Amino acid sequence: MAAVVSAASSLAKSVQELAINTSGPPEKYIRKEGIGGSPSEFPYLDIPVLDLSLLNSSSPEAEEELKRLRLAFSSCGYFQAINHGIDTSFLDEVHDVTREFFTLPIEEKKKYSRDADDIDGYGNDTVYSENQTLDWNDRLYLNIKPENKRKMKVWPENPTTFRKILLDLTAKLENVNEILFKAMAKSLGLEENSFLKQYGEDPIVLSRFNLYPPCPTPDLVLAAKAHGDASAMTYLLQDKQVEGLQALKDDQWYKVPIIPNAIVVNVGDQVEIMTNGIFKSPIHRVVTNPERERMTIAVFFTPDPTSEIKPVDELIDEKNPKFYKSVIDYTGNYFKFFQLGKRPLDALKV
Ligand code: OGA
Ligand code: NI
Repeated sequence: MAAVVSAASSLAKSVQELAINTSGPPEKYIRKEGIGGSPSEFPYLDIPVLDLSLLNSSSPEAEEELKRLRLAFSSCGYFQAINHGIDTSFLDEVHDVTREFFTLPIEEKKKYSRDADDIDGYGNDTVYSENQTLDWNDRLYLNIKPENKRKMKVWPENPTTFRKILLDLTAKLENVNEILFKAMAKSLGLEENSFLKQYGEDPIVLSRFNLYPPCPTPDLVLAAKAHGDASAMTYLLQDKQVEGLQALKDDQWYKVPIIPNAIVVNVGDQVEIMTNGIFKSPIHRVVTNPERERMTIAVFFTPDPTSEIKPVDELIDEKNPKFYKSVIDYTGNYFKFFQLGKRPLDALKV
């Protein structure tokens, strides 16, 4: 992991504490250039809504749904999954336990603070450079898999159901991920394990519970700066009421609409590599809201760091030459490039 300039996350004020302060966000959070408009005024992205149970079936409609999947991932890199097999009542439990955690007293949450040079635990932005603009966001990062990477000391025991709910969510999303990866391969005319096998022996599953407190200057502060996910695939449980996620398409920012109980699915950088650039890892960001706080839960599925990630042979030909180099441990290198303000994926182009 990269050098950290000023760390002491336990001393740094949480954004939740800063949000109570009436004098507005500190200088370090302000983007002098603004965010390109007023958050609520951006247009909506037309994100396809796909039926996961159809993607997993051999019915005549499945073919049509696979085509829509291929189109979604090769255009905006996003879709919203419905009929994903995860009960609404369970999703409510996930949202409730997230809210309960973030509404604990600050001292209680700080028991789970990340170490200064670590990513796992409760905290806010890691500071890599003096002139970095910070995100208006507190988060709880937890490595769920492989099991020997779990840092149990930063796994909340309060609320008492937190750990069990997180493990249940992981198991359910593992099912979804397997269905999706097979469907992706089929949608491109490939054998169904073509992408799944690149996860390797010990895939990484990482969760990020996000709290975005209200911000009085939404035109000048971002809740999460523009980025592509380093994962293979990302599953996002959006806040059911408060918007904030935006995706870049053709150099224009679009709002990702809320569909309660749908799962927002986006391609990560590693699937862009595996598909030789056919599926797009979308650049996205999160804007702030002046009145309401927003909470989301993101779960990232990432290949084993020792597994070689490369474009599958069948997707390379004269018309579509090899676009990306093979890589090992993309996530390890991701942050090195990210802190230089570059898109990490660009460094891997042939
Ligand atoms: C992320 C992310 C979006 C959101 O955690 O990588 O892009 O709406 N989150 O919280
Ligand atoms: Ni993201």
